[in-house]
Amino acid sequence: MLRVERKGPSIRMPPVVMDQRKQAALEKLKNVKYVVAITSGKGGVGKSFIASNLALTMRILGYEVGLMDIDFHGPSTPKMLGIRGQRLIALSGGIQPAQGPLGLKVMSLDFLLEDDDTPVIWRGPIKTTAIFQFITDVSWGNLDFLVIDMPPGTGDEAITVAQEIPKIDGVIFVTIPSEVSVLVVGRSITFYKRLGRKPIGIIENMSSFYCPDSGKTYRVFGKGSGKTLSEKYGIPLLAEIPLDPRIGEANDEGRPYVLAYPESPVTKSLIEAAKKITDILNSSRNEDTEETA
Ligand SMILES: Nc1ncnc2c1ncn2[C@@H]1O[C@H](COP(=O)(O)OP(=O)(O)OP(=O)(O)O)[C@@H](O)[C@H]1O
Ligand SMILES: [Mg+2]
Repeated sequence: MLRVERKGPSIRMPPVVMDQRKQAALEKLKNVKYVVAITSGKGGVGKSFIASNLALTMRILGYEVGLMDIDFHGPSTPKMLGIRGQRLIALSGGIQPAQGPLGLKVMSLDFLLEDDDTPVIWRGPIKTTAIFQFITDVSWGNLDFLVIDMPPGTGDEAITVAQEIPKIDGVIFVTIPSEVSVLVVGRSITFYKRLGRKPIGIIENMSSFYCPDSGKTYRVFGKGSGKTLSEKYGIPLLAEIPLDPRIGEANDEGRPYVLAYPESPVTKSLIEAAKKITDILNSSRNEDTEETA
């Protein structure tokens, strides 16, 4: 029992009890070095493309990686990775995640839906339960990174990740360079910061388009930028990824982009982003360790 001494009579405070599912998630995540959420207030800006391909670049760099897709209403990472239709096997230790390219471990509701027409009609509490189950019921094993592909916005799933999951080491924000997107993503940065989550950095996607016919580069989305967000919120800009029509094609055909185009500028900048993320997380962990020593 905690005792809080005040000037008057002492107040007896009940001990803080972590609810069981949080405790179970914390136990499970002890085997994961870093949990990183890829998010954005905005929809359609490339979160899932970046989450799945960043996870693959982390594998290329030699890390053990899991990808947890919690976009329950629009799971898209299995399609982008070319692993739709895998059947998940439940063993005594838990559900085996799907096997992605390079041995990436993947969990997505897409593997559990009966067919392409089945809608997911879930309200918040079910989604929260599903997020916890994706953590505790899946045999993730020992991981260096668990990358979470978030749905757009700051609704139920974001609140659960920001407030209830007992271990989120950092959040990465994806924006396109439109002022509309920058405004919405700025709010999402404030949301995660207020709820105590550490922003690791910003990725500007669809930055520019190089037109091979004219040889000119165009900023098609307007005058916003990841740099503006980076300066306003004091968060590093991790990458500026151009528009590349091969990304859409590769995603649609289930050919993981970074494996199909290993030498492309996009792949190189994703690898650089993965290295920066690792450095930022390692140094912030070292700082924490020094503080507690
Ligand atoms: N840099 C890029 N160049 C060209 N196409 C891209 C690029 N990034 C993503 N795309 C395409 O844009 C579309 C949206 O990408 P994606 O599904 O990853 O966005 P999202 O933010 O996850 O969307 P949602 O909010 O619905 O979850 C996809 O068709 C994808 O192939
Ligand atoms: Mg998505």
